[in-house]
Amino acid sequence: KKVVLAYSGGLDTSIILKWLQTEYGAEVITFTADLGQGEELTPAREKALKLGIKPENIFIDDLREEFVRDYVFPMFRANTVYEGQYLLGTSIARPLIAKRQIEIARQLGADAVCHGATGKGNDQVRFELGYYALEPDIRVIAPWREWSFRSREALLDFAEKHQIPISKDKRGEAPFSVDANLLHSSSEGKVLEDPAVEAPEFVHQRTLSPEDAPDQPTVITIGFEKGDAVSIDGERLSPAELLTRLNQLGHDNGIGRLDLVENRFVGMKSRGVYETPGGTILLAAHRGIESITLDRGAMHLKDELAVKYAQLIYNGFWFSPEREMLQAAIDHSQQRVNGTVRVKLYKGNATVIGRESPDSLYDQELVTFEEGAVAYDHRDAEGFIKLNALRLRVLGKRDARDRG
Ligand code: ARG
Ligand code: SIN
Repeated sequence: KKVVLAYSGGLDTSIILKWLQTEYGAEVITFTADLGQGEELTPAREKALKLGIKPENIFIDDLREEFVRDYVFPMFRANTVYEGQYLLGTSIARPLIAKRQIEIARQLGADAVCHGATGKGNDQVRFELGYYALEPDIRVIAPWREWSFRSREALLDFAEKHQIPISKDKRGEAPFSVDANLLHSSSEGKVLEDPAVEAPEFVHQRTLSPEDAPDQPTVITIGFEKGDAVSIDGERLSPAELLTRLNQLGHDNGIGRLDLVENRFVGMKSRGVYETPGGTILLAAHRGIESITLDRGAMHLKDELAVKYAQLIYNGFWFSPEREMLQAAIDHSQQRVNGTVRVKLYKGNATVIGRESPDSLYDQELVTFEEGAVAYDHRDAEGFIKLNALRLRVLGKRDARDRG
């Protein structure tokens, strides 16, 4: 049996690796993705070798450009936000990992794939919907739902028995659970579980606290083409370079912190503390450029679709016909979303302070309070309001009758 394991190199997935070898008698292929989590990946290779993985069965891929270009940017074209707050930093990475695992499984003739998500969360759903969409008959192994370890202690004993290195702080328990990539980092569980209690400062990993951010604002200009950010201050950057740069700017100015309670797809509410520095700036800037280049009808429809789109991504339906339909509509809307946006970064805020576009629909002549504008006749407004008021007046009269 051959299994492709999504392997981070951490303790939990190392235990899974051993468990697959010993309990399943499987030949394990490890896949480690660089999604910009900001961790050295060489140790993952060494660890895999030490745990008995053949060199030709170790896959370490830098997926940062693909991640931002084909997942993050398409999502940002929609201004996607789940439950009004969450920028979906974890959700959007899962389909890419699933896709790559399936590709490797095909390449090596593996019949199963395996992930380290627990049986209580969203990630198991996202990974597995991705696997099944791309390879309908694949075997899925989800150790957290299958194995008989009943406590952290039992897991660690297993690790010890199989010479998996355990750092000292893991003997106690990790203070919370983290997932990270170029778009965001998330922290959940343990010290964060009581939603009434403020998250300790040490939970944050990629932003300064706004209180500690500089007293001087930083102003940047972001260039857009067809709805995608392509430059900062006139310098053209690849998608991953651009997001990396925005992350640094966001970090320095304390931008993108979020403390929320969200509804998981599997039913329970969970509390999370997320940091999305670059993404938060990007969302503000994208809305800024759309504000002058999108027609109202297109924009309002987009805003409605964005709610649905966010649900699809959160729930793991990236590879679904309905997500692709929405994507086609959203991408179509971005044809003329070109231009530049100036954003002021200051103590936790990313504020749009200027926008310009060769495709602008903003008509100063039309909107000005000064005399002007041939296309707009004030007298038209009177009839416009009267007709819109008609049914409100009929209702108002009935209410007046009721009052007697
Ligand atoms: N609750 C967030 C989501 O569902 C973050 C999940 C973090 N995942 C993790 N394995 N730590 O997208
Ligand atoms: C997990 O269950 O592995 C993390 C949390 C989630 O997926 O929602």
